[in-house]
Amino acid sequence: PVQLGGTLLVAYLLGSVPFGVVLTSVAGLGDVRRIGSGNIGATNVLRTGRKDLALITLLLDGGKGAAAVLIAGHLYGPNGEVLAAIGAFLGHLFPVYLAFRGGKGVATFLGIALALHFHVGLAACAIWLAVAFLTRYSSLAALVMAIATPVLAFYLHGPLAMELDVVLAALIYLKHRGNIRRLVTGEEPRIGGGKKP
Ligand code: G3P
Repeated sequence: PVQLGGTLLVAYLLGSVPFGVVLTSVAGLGDVRRIGSGNIGATNVLRTGRKDLALITLLLDGGKGAAAVLIAGHLYGPNGEVLAAIGAFLGHLFPVYLAFRGGKGVATFLGIALALHFHVGLAACAIWLAVAFLTRYSSLAALVMAIATPVLAFYLHGPLAMELDVVLAALIYLKHRGNIRRLVTGEEPRIGGGKKP
């Protein structure tokens, strides 16, 4: 129990590292929270015009979720994996370093999914890419992916594998309330600055 509590805490602290904020600040672009949607994720880093930084943000935000799960799984088995996934995800959404105002969890969710159940994670990435490519809405791609992932986990690995995905996906929806409103009213910006697909 002590180790598992420690796993949750360490994963939370790792998940709390806001790579988008760190990278944009180090690059001299200012605080990414002051531009676009104000989010700390790769999509909003892209709005600075720096594709490279957006890609690195995506990889690091995903990587911290994957690393937490893989390390905890190695040390403490399946229970460790689940706690690390929850810790890292909550860290990204509610980071201690940013007064608990964090990101929307998409990249971290994908990293966690890849580490937990690789094929489900790959399919989740493919779904995100397909919807993003077709519609140019990053948020819509995330929302479709977040619904599809628990369903895929259920079919490929059974109900237990699905439970964690359902909880994380519900939090993704909660964090996308503003995006959902804008998608409905047609005000959501598309990737690449409002161009039609
Ligand atoms: O990854 C977050 C994405 O789904 C939406 O980001 O900045 O457009 O709110 P943003």
